[in-house]
Amino acid sequence: MQSTRPRIYMQEVATRDGFQNEAQFVETEDKIRVIDALSQCGFAKIEVTSFTSPKAIPALRDAEMVMHQITRHPDVEYTVLVPNVRGAERALSCGIDEANLVMSISETHNRANLRMTREQSFAQLEHVVAAISGSRVAINISLSTTFGCPMEGDISEDEVMRWLDRFSGLGVQRATLCDTTGMAYPTQVRSMATRARRLFPHMTFTLHFHNTRSMAQANVLAALGTGIDRFDASLGGIGGCPYAPGASGNACTEDMVHMLELEGYDTNVDLSKVLEVSAMLARLIGHDVPSQLLKAGGRDRLHPAPAYVAEIGQPK
Ligand code: COA
Ligand code: ZN
Repeated sequence: MQSTRPRIYMQEVATRDGFQNEAQFVETEDKIRVIDALSQCGFAKIEVTSFTSPKAIPALRDAEMVMHQITRHPDVEYTVLVPNVRGAERALSCGIDEANLVMSISETHNRANLRMTREQSFAQLEHVVAAISGSRVAINISLSTTFGCPMEGDISEDEVMRWLDRFSGLGVQRATLCDTTGMAYPTQVRSMATRARRLFPHMTFTLHFHNTRSMAQANVLAALGTGIDRFDASLGGIGGCPYAPGASGNACTEDMVHMLELEGYDTNVDLSKVLEVSAMLARLIGHDVPSQLLKAGGRDRLHPAPAYVAEIGQPK
């Protein structure tokens, strides 16, 4: 039977946004094992890896091997991050479902991260869109630093809308508004998402938060109020851009699913399976993960009361 609860589409990014930022190389077979396990959890989309320069992101230098060897679930879309034409060629040779193109709204972060001006990035991505359009591969544009840049500071909403308009003009129908270093706050999210949806009603929007300042969950709730129904999140809450000073983990998948389900949404995600996969992460990356739920358990986890509780009020 179909759920009558509002559906939220959860998009898992740990093996891209998470692993890209880890000092310890996660072995290819371990990456595949994690992705295959995530494929069984009910996510709408999984961002598998990125086709970036292996010098820029050595942690994901095995992108082709990973993409070729994962076992795909028919209900999951498999996407990859693509920064330029070379990345698109590599990605397309692996039979991706979606190319997740990336550039920053902040000129400074675009130069730091992609070693190009924003105009150079746009020119590269324009070629990528032309090459892919009309094929079965979908195109998403991820706009980094939408809610603030750790080097430039505030980013104007007008500037975000200007870049959305340029990608919309190329025929791109999917866009992700990325809060790269956790600078977004609920009022800002509400305003940005409302305006984006009003100006580009034909586009499908995803919101991508980092929990750098503990505002990710509050931002998700704010976004829901504007009609946004797609979120990126990362298993264990790992993640971050190595070229954004002060970046830290994404909104944590299990924490977000736990909250959304309590709030009456249908995420289609099997939380107990997610927690099992999340429990594997610490060994793979060599340190604990930020996930709160992994430590605390869900709110249905009960603890035995201390023995004296039963004795209180009894005659001595
Ligand atoms: N995949 C593999 N190799 C690539 C590549 C890609 N997508 N793009 C470029 N290269 C290679 C080139 O072939 C060249 O190789 P060579 O030195 O053996 O000749 C080398 O990288 C330099 O190429 P160039 O075009 O000058 O790239 P660059 O050094 O200016 O770097 C990017 C540009 C975009 C490739 C690089 O900055 C990058 O990959 N950034 C991604 C950062 C990221 O993922 N951040 C986190 C996510 S937001
Ligand atoms: Zn991110």
